[in-house]
Amino acid sequence: MSIIMSTSRGPHSYDRLRDVPVKRENVGGVATGLRGIMESMGGKWVCWGDGTMDSRFQHEDMGKYSIERVMLSQREKKGYYDEYSNSVLWPLFHYFREKIEYDSRSYEQYESVNKKFASEIAKVSQAGDIIWIHDYQLSLVPGMLREMGIQNKIIFTWHIPWVASEFYFLLPERDQLIKSISQSDSITFHTMDYARNFISSVARSTGSSDSVKSRVHSIPLGIDYRRFNQYRRDHSLRKKHGKSIIFSIDRLDYSKGLVNRAQSIEYFIRKYPEYREKFTFIMVVTPSRSNISGYEDIKDNLEMNIGRINGLYGSINWMPIVYMYRRLSQGQLLNYYYNADVALITPLKDGLNLVAEEFVATTERGILVISEFAGVSDYLSESITVNPNSTMDIADKLKLALDMSDEERMKRLKVMKEFIIKHDDRWWAKKVLGTLKGSKRP
Ligand code: G6P
Repeated sequence: MSIIMSTSRGPHSYDRLRDVPVKRENVGGVATGLRGIMESMGGKWVCWGDGTMDSRFQHEDMGKYSIERVMLSQREKKGYYDEYSNSVLWPLFHYFREKIEYDSRSYEQYESVNKKFASEIAKVSQAGDIIWIHDYQLSLVPGMLREMGIQNKIIFTWHIPWVASEFYFLLPERDQLIKSISQSDSITFHTMDYARNFISSVARSTGSSDSVKSRVHSIPLGIDYRRFNQYRRDHSLRKKHGKSIIFSIDRLDYSKGLVNRAQSIEYFIRKYPEYREKFTFIMVVTPSRSNISGYEDIKDNLEMNIGRINGLYGSINWMPIVYMYRRLSQGQLLNYYYNADVALITPLKDGLNLVAEEFVATTERGILVISEFAGVSDYLSESITVNPNSTMDIADKLKLALDMSDEERMKRLKVMKEFIIKHDDRWWAKKVLGTLKGSKRP
């Protein structure tokens, strides 16, 4: 028995640089989260070969596991990825109705790419293998596999929020998605709310949720704690800087609440002038989905706001916001996590948010300020939660974090670290696989 993992984005890709393939580690929760699990469990990882030189690596042996890449044409990529996945499903499942750009032709491409994934999975799997499919890009795959006569156990894990059923019902293909996902033996979400919303969407779509209820689970994805904990500690950044460091890192996305966050720093400076020149907010934004309309607009808006705020309050000695728009190496990222006094993570809606877990794993004294609309806030109860829509609330909570006594910080951190250590990525994989025991699909 082996595991056939399937995600849209793979762990890494190969891009062409002067005719030579250059490896690119992929960012994003799912690719990052599953890498360690595959390294320990082994199996096959079926994913999209999105790199410009991935066609040379359609099958890649990684030692413990192999990568099987599905190649897409430009037209397929546009309809499947840019349009249906990221301009329909992504905004819908994050409650951004005004960002949905619906075109029925993109669904046709989504369907045919899901078929390609299903065929590849059917090709590489053997009787007894467990097929584990991930996320909104591949929602039609379970149903397609069943139509092909595949009888293997199927797990489907949904990594983003599942919205309330009346909102879900905006989607023209609401019945098709539900019908397909429901043919899995186990369906997992990151929080109880998402699981409940899914069950009520099934009831609305089919008249009853009785047949799926017992197969739906809420199990939060954990991180490979050891990778963060083994970091060579270097606190020279904080020492040299001499000011409190507030830190955030996100993919460029409207769901991340980036503009609100920058504006809350402005509000913080105005409301609490005694903090001027006493802190620096290091805001790292990682390029993502740059072909999709709407993503460049938020970048412009964010950069305009940061420029305005730094222009108003900055001086030769102090810039309130140090902004970076680029990918960081793992070493740089860990260095920021370790040196930050506060991680300020304020998405307007987020399935879970692994950055929060990574920060808690790395820091030795930092405090986490997290949006109450990020799934992870259900679990990290000793963090400081904020309403990301309120610049006032963010500013007040930031003050609370910066003023917190060391004793209180350490007390809170200890509880959160214990949670992260206990609920790591291996725990998650074991728990999800364990749901197959006794699961009965009608
Ligand atoms: C979110 C989704 C993932 C996706 C990631 C990166 O975390 O849940 O499925 O892989 O974003 O998005 P991208 O579009 O770059 O693959």
